[in-house]
Amino acid sequence: MKTAFISGISGQDGAYLAKHLLENGYKVIGGDRRTSSGSLWRLEELEILNDVEIVDFELAEFTNIMRQIEKNDIQEFYNLASQSFVAASFEMPLMTSDITGMSVIRILEAIRKIHPTIKFYQASSSEMFGKAQETPQNEKTPFYPRSPYGVAKLFGHWTTVNYREAYNLFACSGILFNHESPLRGDEFVTRKISKSLSKIKLGKLDLLELGNLEAKRDWGFAGDYVKAMWLMLQQEKADDYVVATGEAHSVLEFINLASSFLGIQLVWDGEKENIVGIDKSTNKIIIRVNKKFYRPSEVDHLVGDSSKARDILGWSDSVNFENLVAMMVETEFNRIKKAD
Ligand code: GDD
Repeated sequence: MKTAFISGISGQDGAYLAKHLLENGYKVIGGDRRTSSGSLWRLEELEILNDVEIVDFELAEFTNIMRQIEKNDIQEFYNLASQSFVAASFEMPLMTSDITGMSVIRILEAIRKIHPTIKFYQASSSEMFGKAQETPQNEKTPFYPRSPYGVAKLFGHWTTVNYREAYNLFACSGILFNHESPLRGDEFVTRKISKSLSKIKLGKLDLLELGNLEAKRDWGFAGDYVKAMWLMLQQEKADDYVVATGEAHSVLEFINLASSFLGIQLVWDGEKENIVGIDKSTNKIIIRVNKKFYRPSEVDHLVGDSSKARDILGWSDSVNFENLVAMMVETEFNRIKKAD
């Protein structure tokens, strides 16, 4: 039986990856931050909380990382923990650089010194492409990060490449485009929209305030993306892969689709930051732009070319944009109704 360690097991990807590894016969050890208020609700929702071993794990603490790697006979290490909210990285650039960027060195050093045969996966991000230099973006596209988060992820990415080349570690970097699900954190735009519109539909909220509605993202289903992480570590050779659907949609398109699934007749009035979304049946404004959700430098348009992952890993995505929005809205609507 192989043992895998997942840092950030309490997050969306940690939960889906744990489930995938358990289904493939792994023992799963999940690192969770002692002070994290995130709780383990996602593991409960996937009904796997009792099947994984949870241990205290702190990315800022090198000795703790070393102890976990010394103590456990791990074959695969998935580094999914980070400060992953782009907007927050502008408020906390130093913490983000340390946790999201520098920690990759801490883990790789510990692996190199203690168990250099451990296979390592680094959760890199399409945010590294930022102000995209070509469309679509693939593994050879030049990087141009637009946030402290993107810069920190780029540091982690190059660190992974460097440890692979310098010390011959089996270290892979997965450049994942946005991946969503009903287990997404509240602060990310897809969950914020599906949750708030469901509440509006159920009469529990009057107004949804958002930032830039024109931003376009390549949105896939997180449950599909964790399979690519695992596949990367099953290859003969360590490498880096872009994982994406190849389709981009705007935040506005996401809202339109979510509204129509909920039976909200939405009409738009105005444009840019003055645009408002009106519920035709009540004639009330239910969506507004609030500039406090704008980012000091925005990533306008990301769309990935994942041909390499499709060809070499045999990876494919199974949930298209419409089905992803439907899945998120339906789960959210039912959760809120059930909580009544
Ligand atoms: N969060 C948020 N909240 N985003 C908003 C809002 C809002 O109220 N209004 C508009 N947006 C826009 C953001 O400006 C951004 O352009 C887009 O919606 C998506 O924002 P997020 O959902 O916060 O995701 P992200 O693209 O910044 O980053 C996510 O994907 C990356 C992969 O490319 C995160 O999961 C990162 O951790 C991940 O690396």
